[in-house]
Amino acid sequence: MNILVINGSPMEKSRTRGIAKLVKELLEEKGVMVAYYDLGIEKLPLFPGDEDNKENDSLQKLYKEAKEADGFFITSPEYHNGMSGVLKNALDFLGGTHFKHKPAAIAAASGGSKGGINALNNMRTVLRGLYAFVLPDQFVSDPECYDENYDLVDRESVERLQVITDLLVDLTEKLGVKQEQNVR
Ligand SMILES: Cc1cc2nc3c(=O)[nH]c(=O)nc-3n(C[C@H](O)[C@H](O)[C@H](O)COP(=O)(O)O)c2cc1C
Repeated sequence: MNILVINGSPMEKSRTRGIAKLVKELLEEKGVMVAYYDLGIEKLPLFPGDEDNKENDSLQKLYKEAKEADGFFITSPEYHNGMSGVLKNALDFLGGTHFKHKPAAIAAASGGSKGGINALNNMRTVLRGLYAFVLPDQFVSDPECYDENYDLVDRESVERLQVITDLLVDLTEKLGVKQEQNVR
């Protein structure tokens, strides 16, 4: 099983990356093969890229890792009541061929004051458009959940992400079998 974890923040110092890094660790502890794609590091062209941009290394890496993934864990900051622009731009390069009938877990970093839900709902809507199975469980964090290095250290958050990653692994296993059955 191969799960692609995406950090959807463009920031150099990012709380969303704190979620993505922790999710990667939790999945690896479960023996899952994890690919990690960081939109604060990878430099994607704007969609639609011109013909030259199709050879962009970051874009080719995104296509490859999304195609090979059996499941996804996608994270985003909430920016102006939605997911980040870099994440939406990345998802616009992808389609049903990458996501169809694959499970996807979602998580968001908010600025506090009960933020984050709009980004999660926005991600859920967009991923439904890509034909992913988005888990009903989701995760949102406030700035207080992080230490000064933006590592996610809050105990309840770690426990919640354990539950969600367990569910993601379980569903990815089950849907993987189903897809094989569909192929026959
Ligand atoms: C342009 C911008 C818009 C933001 N809009 C919201 C918002 O609508 N709701 C919210 O809860 N936080 C908002 N925030 C705060 C971020 O969600 C918060 O700082 C989060 O930790 C950012 O994650 P990052 O560090 O991974 O980029 C906004 C921050 C920026 C830079």
